[in-house]
Amino acid sequence: MNIGIIGAGNVGGTLGKIWAAKGHTITYGVRNPLTPKTQTIVAETDCGATATYIKDAAEKSDVVVLATPWEAVGEVVFQILGLTGKILIDCTNPIEPNPEWPLSQGISAAEEIAKRLPGFRVVKAFNTLGAGNLSDVTFGAVHADAFMCGDDAEAKKTVAQLAKEIGFDAIDVGGLRSAEMLESLAKLWITLAYQQGIGPNIAFKLLHK
Ligand SMILES: NC(=O)c1ccc[n+]([C@@H]2O[C@H](COP(=O)([O-])OP(=O)(O)OC[C@H]3O[C@@H](n4cnc5c(N)ncnc54)[C@H](OP(=O)(O)O)[C@@H]3O)[C@@H](O)[C@H]2O)c1
Repeated sequence: MNIGIIGAGNVGGTLGKIWAAKGHTITYGVRNPLTPKTQTIVAETDCGATATYIKDAAEKSDVVVLATPWEAVGEVVFQILGLTGKILIDCTNPIEPNPEWPLSQGISAAEEIAKRLPGFRVVKAFNTLGAGNLSDVTFGAVHADAFMCGDDAEAKKTVAQLAKEIGFDAIDVGGLRSAEMLESLAKLWITLAYQQGIGPNIAFKLLHK
């Protein structure tokens, strides 16, 4: 699959390396493909990965992964507006307010993105645990859950497959309306990891009996 990753940072760079090793073609979409930081990520990703400008990366890809700070999303959306037929995986968390794009009470970042990008099938995913855990999502014998939501069943099936390739158990939490819960779950993760001092090697798991 051709996967365009917008933002080659902690989340984007880690996902890119994992999926490249699984045989996907990774194109990082960045502000400047020639910076040493980007070139290092491309070299570490290997397997034919490349970096280009944001619109170009999105155009080339079946799946676009949004992994920039929330404050940068307006700028990214503007660049990929008008593209159609692609899945967009929204990994962002609106932790810091975006003055250019204030969220109404009860509305998630993912829903706002979907509203502004009607050509994309938006799935919220990979936002509920720290990036440092993505490269190994096993905790003893347990696999962390990747909670995801979106309004397109086929798109969620694709994202669930990508989650399984990382090692997650995929949990569908419903339509994109549920994204607000996943963004709150990320806040809970941050609170536990950093304010409660548990540390970042934690993840959520749905238990059954
Ligand atoms: N870190 C985590 O543990 C974690 C976990 C789950 C979800 N998230 C969410 O995932 C997103 C990415 O987090 P991260 O930790 O990967 O961030 P990061 O390491 O700071 O990387 C952010 C990336 O976004 C790019 N970027 C910044 N401003 C941009 C702009 N205006 N236009 C285009 N690209 C821009 C940066 O490019 P430059 O190199 O050019 O600055 C960088 O490649 C955030 O929304 C975060 O809340 C983070």
